[in-house]
Amino acid sequence: MRPDEHFHTPVLLKEVLEVLAPRAERTFVDGTLGGGGHSEALLEAGAQVIGIDQDPEALDFAKERRLHRYGEKFLPVRANFEDLGTVLDSLHIGEVDGVLLDLGVSSWQLDTAERGFSFQREGPLDMRMNPDRGMTAADLVNTASAAELARIFQVYGEEPNARRIASRLVSARTARPFQTTMQLALAVEEIVPRRGRIHPATRVFQALRMAVNRELEVLESVLGQAAARLRPGGRMAVITFHSLEDRMVKEFFKVRSKAELDRPEWPAPRPNPDYIFRALTRKPVIASAEEQRTNPRARSAKLRAVEKIQPQRTTI
Ligand SMILES: C[S@@+](CC[C@H](N)C(=O)[O-])C[C@H]1O[C@@H](n2cnc3c(N)ncnc32)[C@H](O)[C@@H]1O
Repeated sequence: MRPDEHFHTPVLLKEVLEVLAPRAERTFVDGTLGGGGHSEALLEAGAQVIGIDQDPEALDFAKERRLHRYGEKFLPVRANFEDLGTVLDSLHIGEVDGVLLDLGVSSWQLDTAERGFSFQREGPLDMRMNPDRGMTAADLVNTASAAELARIFQVYGEEPNARRIASRLVSARTARPFQTTMQLALAVEEIVPRRGRIHPATRVFQALRMAVNRELEVLESVLGQAAARLRPGGRMAVITFHSLEDRMVKEFFKVRSKAELDRPEWPAPRPNPDYIFRALTRKPVIASAEEQRTNPRARSAKLRAVEKIQPQRTTI
């Protein structure tokens, strides 16, 4: 399959454009460039886009095949979005008008067997979005303690059989270390037999991917940096696919969107020192029935967005 067949369908595109309101003279950071679907729409509206991705394949594809035609308006950067502040510094950009994060892996990454993300395709057990850095999923499965693996499966995968799977994998790896995706998928299927349509290794694979790429950690780090780099009136939109990610984004936005704080022991509400946002989405925006039907990836997508407010004037 050609790569562009995977990259074409950005999730919640119309909704993202509505909240980010791109136009000429505005600068956006797309922290998850991927195939460039969202970036392309921002560029098409005349905006400048700094497109960040840690995966060189995603970057080459977006740059060379689709987005080169926007010339200097498109600034591709290979980096982890946890380094957002440093990336903007290196471009001598102080504040931006918007930040977009469309989290997780792209269909291209998922469907490329050699990247090792899929339990349905035989490949090396890798799962790194940045193939040049860090531990692979195989390294993790072959070296972590049973307790650590159980924690990963439980917390990131919400896997009910986390401890059983972890201890059996630890026994199995002494005879034969895990090297490939199918080897792991089959081992998990032997421990937790298949019931229903969902493959028993689904949660284990998701959990390993999140651990290998430190997905919650980098999300926590980028949210603060993005907030700091938005100009007043600038907007941030985040699309999540996992309940832990969504909870983190929801909380981050919520504590900063309240003008006042109140506690029973206080005689009156007090100004919230963290107040910097106005919520643009009261509830998470989900894909329309039509989008969910045509793009399975959209089914678990949740979009939340905020606008940075003008700094409060203190009256003397
Ligand atoms: C879901 S895809 C984005 C798809 C894109 N919005 C589009 O329309 O084609 C996520 C992309 O973000 C990248 N990515 C995920 N986490 C990242 C991180 N922490 N730093 C940099 N890139 C990241 C992945 O490599 C992947 O290419």
